[in-house]
Amino acid sequence: MAREKVITTVPADEVQKHDAALRPKLLKEVIGQRKVAERLEIAVCASKKLKEPLGHILFDGPPGLGKTTFATVLPNELGTSIQLTSGPALSKPADLLPFLTNLEEGSVLFIDEIHRMPRVVEEFIYPAMEDFRIDIVLGEGMSARTISMNLKRFTLIGATTRSGMLSSPMRDRFKMHEHLEFYSVEELAQIVRINSAKLNTPITDAAALELAQRSRGTPRVANSRLYWTRNFAAALHDGKITEDIARDALDKAEVDREGLDKNDRKYLETLIDLYAGGPTGVEALAATINLASDTLSDEIEPYLLREQYITRSPRGRVAMPRAYTVLGKIPPRPKPEEKPQPGLFD
Ligand SMILES: Nc1ncnc2c1ncn2[C@@H]1O[C@H](COP(=O)(O)OP(=O)(O)O)[C@@H](O)[C@H]1O
Ligand SMILES: [Mg+2]
Repeated sequence: MAREKVITTVPADEVQKHDAALRPKLLKEVIGQRKVAERLEIAVCASKKLKEPLGHILFDGPPGLGKTTFATVLPNELGTSIQLTSGPALSKPADLLPFLTNLEEGSVLFIDEIHRMPRVVEEFIYPAMEDFRIDIVLGEGMSARTISMNLKRFTLIGATTRSGMLSSPMRDRFKMHEHLEFYSVEELAQIVRINSAKLNTPITDAAALELAQRSRGTPRVANSRLYWTRNFAAALHDGKITEDIARDALDKAEVDREGLDKNDRKYLETLIDLYAGGPTGVEALAATINLASDTLSDEIEPYLLREQYITRSPRGRVAMPRAYTVLGKIPPRPKPEEKPQPGLFD
């Protein structure tokens, strides 16, 4: 299914370019995710001491929280190389061969969106993960024979926005599973300050906080909002980002005071106005908003769920009182059966 990127204030390829420029290179430059970073530090240290490749690692979590960052930081820490590919690019086992034959001892193979790798490729990779070996079938029919090929010992790092869609044999072959969480406002403010320095843009602490509060708990969003604000400050002011300038820049980008963007509000408006607040299925919402349902469930909903704008019920998505408030609407009264019993709470 075609996937669309969340619409940000900056085109996606610009965002990717800045992702690479602003991405931390070492574990100590990674902000937040302390527990994950500590476990990885231990794993890296053990791998060096024991002279063994790092065990295979799976990162999961919504987009923009640092999965690729962790995957690219680890080979730097280990002093080894990395090859990058993604699930949808691997349509058949042969697509994996160039990567597997290029491996160096202890190097990293990173597969992004690993849940989208076809089953045949998944099965082909199992012996590579377990015994650093692949089985290649030569010829067809009666004359077919299998040859086994040994590989260099390597580390597979997988990233997924949907760990639930990964088959359990695949999941079980990873030694470490790390789930990335949304970031606190303070952590995002720190990222914004560090990255404005990288962009040679002066920023006040209050402005960094304003950007952080309006970045959906997500470093990639913070980077793209910082990038927009930097351009705004350069174009209309003297280049320095103050709190007022940050506020004006984000208002102009139609990012509201809670940090929700046009797509978030469109989602909530559709759920409330067209579907009476739900419950409604994600497919129906996606069709109405004209976005891929993957975009809704991978990129828009995780933050709305976490901030309790919506909940998920067995019958579909439901708008919470906070969703009504943020859109300036009045939340419906609770249904009679949900009303507290008189006298129960007084
Ligand atoms: N923990 C972090 N500390 C500092 N910056 C981060 C962190 N996580 C992500 N970023 C920034 O956000 C951008 C997007 O992160 P990325 O690793 O590409 O997310 P994902 O792969 O999960 O979609 C990175 O380029 C980096 O600049
Ligand atoms: Mg990524």
